[in-house]
Order: sequence, then C-alpha cells, then structure tokens
Amino acid sequence: MREADKDVELAGYKVSKGTRLMVATYAIQHDESVWPDAEAFIPERHLSSDAVGAPTQPHAWLGFGDDTRSCVGGRLAMLEGQAKLALVHLFRRHSYRLTPGQVPIKLQMGITVGPAEGVWLTVHDRS
Ligand code: HEM
Repeated sequence: MREADKDVELAGYKVSKGTRLMVATYAIQHDESVWPDAEAFIPERHLSSDAVGAPTQPHAWLGFGDDTRSCVGGRLAMLEGQAKLALVHLFRRHSYRLTPGQVPIKLQMGITVGPAEGVWLTVHDRS
C-alpha cells in the first residue's frame, strides 16, 4: 500500500495527493503475458531469465515487494527457506502427498493470498 504525497501522473493516470494505491500483485503474478503458464509449478523459472516459463518482464515477481521499500527480511526468509538439512532428513524418512480433493485449492484473498482451509498432506513412512 502506498499513499501519494503529491499530485502525480503514473502511466498516464492522474493520481491526486492522498490517494492510496495498492499493487495488484496477484493479478501481475497470474498475468499470462508476464508469466507464461502462470498456474504451472515450474520452480526452475526462478533460476534464470532464459528458463522455460521465466517472466517476460523484470520486476514481475513481488513476493518481497520491490525497490527501496521492499522487504528487509527477504534475504533472511530465503535463507530460512533453504534449511535443506532439515528437509532432507524429513524426506528421507517420509513421503508427503497432497490429500485428495483439494485441487483447485480454495484461496483466501486479503492483503496476502493464502489457502482458505490450509493445505492437507498425508504422510507415509518410507520404510
Ligand atoms: C517468507 C517471508 C516473508 C515474506 C513473503 C515477506 C514479504 C514482504 C512484503 C511483500 C513486504 C512489503 C514490501 C513493499 O511494500 O513493497 C514486506 C515488508 C517488510 N518486511 Fe517482509 N516478508 C517476509 C519475511 C520477513 C522477515 C523474516 C522480516 C524481518 C526479519 C521482514 C521484515 C519486513 C519489514 C521491516 C518490511 C517493511 C519494509 C519497508 O517498508 O521499508 N519480512 N515483506
């Protein structure tokens, strides 16, 4: 959420001082002209701009916002996401499958978007 501190023109739109603006992150990240096959699970597309399914425009992934007021904890959060040892340990012992009946997943829209009823997994022993 941003508030214009003066009258300004943005991409041809006149925005008056005091107007609150919110970036439509969900719409941008589901725009097929920016994110080819947006709903497909293609994690490799985040590795390089040449990868299949990579965004066609810069600044198209806004998980941590962008530019000067982006998330100060972004790097820390990514490091935490790389807690591979713990995951390796869990995946060696168990397999995790999506409990049937949840796709398409029901989303809850707010300031952030998340699963409305959680994501239920069934855990199987690998032994
Ligand atoms: C997966 C975890 C996280 C996600 C997805 C996330 C996402 C975001 C987003 C989208 C923003 C708004 C950026 C904007 O307005 O353009 C933000 C701001 C912020 N985040 Fe995070 N964040 C995460 C973790 C953290 C952590 C671990 C910390 C602190 C250690 C943190 C501290 C902050 C702060 C202080 C701001 C405000 C920055 C500012 O307004 O200048 N975040 N975050």
